[in-house]
Amino acid sequence: MRHITAADIHAFERIYRLNLVNGLPGFKPANLVGTAAPDGATNLAVFSSALHLGSDPPLLGLVTRPTTVPRHTYQNLKASGCYTLNHVPAALAARAHYTSADFAPEVSEFDACGFTPVYRDGFPAPYVAESPLGIGLRLLEELPISNGTVLLVGTVEHVYLPETSLRPDGTLDLVALGDACISGLDAYHEVLPPVRFGYARVGQPPVAQ
Ligand SMILES: Cc1cc2nc3c(=O)[nH]c(=O)nc-3n(C[C@H](O)[C@H](O)[C@H](O)COP(=O)(O)O)c2cc1C
Repeated sequence: MRHITAADIHAFERIYRLNLVNGLPGFKPANLVGTAAPDGATNLAVFSSALHLGSDPPLLGLVTRPTTVPRHTYQNLKASGCYTLNHVPAALAARAHYTSADFAPEVSEFDACGFTPVYRDGFPAPYVAESPLGIGLRLLEELPISNGTVLLVGTVEHVYLPETSLRPDGTLDLVALGDACISGLDAYHEVLPPVRFGYARVGQPPVAQ
């Protein structure tokens, strides 16, 4: 078995290290983060760091890279307090990935990458019309991390999805949505139907449902 130590990681070439460490969490969700600047200019960026922080109140986290250089998503969501998360179907992976390119501030990734901004129910941040599931979030708090990244904590205010992808027990059929997941910083995966289990109880080995 190959053994990689922290010292090895530190000594690796930058891109090699970045590729390796980005793969360590395993598969990650694929979301497009939609925001609007105070002048109305829209912005869209792919993020793989969305995570569940709690259900009541419904909180989701997002990690933004160090804000030592201009981060348009961060600037916009700080200014308006609002942003959207839009699931990325595998069929839209190439367009979603393109949003990570270093576009000039005056260029909207919606236009440049082939997505349509749509505003819903007075919420100030744009959703992605092509995305099957859109979430409207309000920034609750931001927690600085020692490496310069920032954990953005948002309250879920709106969810839009096809009725057919919501099961009677509240679980989401993400496979039916066509959602992709991400590994590393460069790979988008289609997802197979899951093996599902009930609530795990001591003494009751789980059986696939
Ligand atoms: C697969 C993938 C996942 C990414 N995930 C994140 C992320 O979780 N957080 C982040 O700050 N940037 C992430 N990025 C980088 C942003 O997409 C990229 O910096 C983008 O240009 C930010 O745009 P902005 O300056 O308009 O906010 C990711 C890029 C790729 C390709």
